Amino acid sequence: MEKTFGIIKPNAVQKNLIGKILTLIEESGLKVVEARMETLTKPQAEGFYAEHKERPFFGSLVNFMTSGPVLLFVLEGNNAVENYRKLMGATDPAKAAPGTIRKLYADSLEANSVHGSDSTASAAREVAYFFGDK
Ligand code: CDP
Ligand code: MG
Repeated sequence: MEKTFGIIKPNAVQKNLIGKILTLIEESGLKVVEARMETLTKPQAEGFYAEHKERPFFGSLVNFMTSGPVLLFVLEGNNAVENYRKLMGATDPAKAAPGTIRKLYADSLEANSVHGSDSTASAAREVAYFFGDK
């Protein structure tokens, strides 16, 4: 059993899409094993996205991610990292495959509704970053 980390981003929470997105996740066979809702602080979002610090979209991304509540969660399942990335679809919703979360529910490249860890190493770091105290 593998774990991965995900976020339902502020645009999707605002549009009442938590239920629809979690339904797709659960129907794919992944299990939600941790979840918490909160509004991220700037330092939290900056630390989480530190790998993108030098990218031109970093400031805007941090503003967006702190613009309202998000749902933070941990998923468990076979090949959870890869299977959840596939279910999310490409970063740019215009390039996401039909039926994927981003194709169905993203508003833009930035406001693409969901985050998912991109490797088992990222998953371990990201789970610890948000759920490390327990
Ligand atoms: O989220 P994912 O791993 O698919 O993509 P990323 O390359 O790690 O980028 C992180 C997030 O930054 C994306 O999910 C978008 O919200 C945002 N982004 C953006 O606003 N503009 C870009 N050109 C690339 C990413
Ligand atoms: Mg990424």
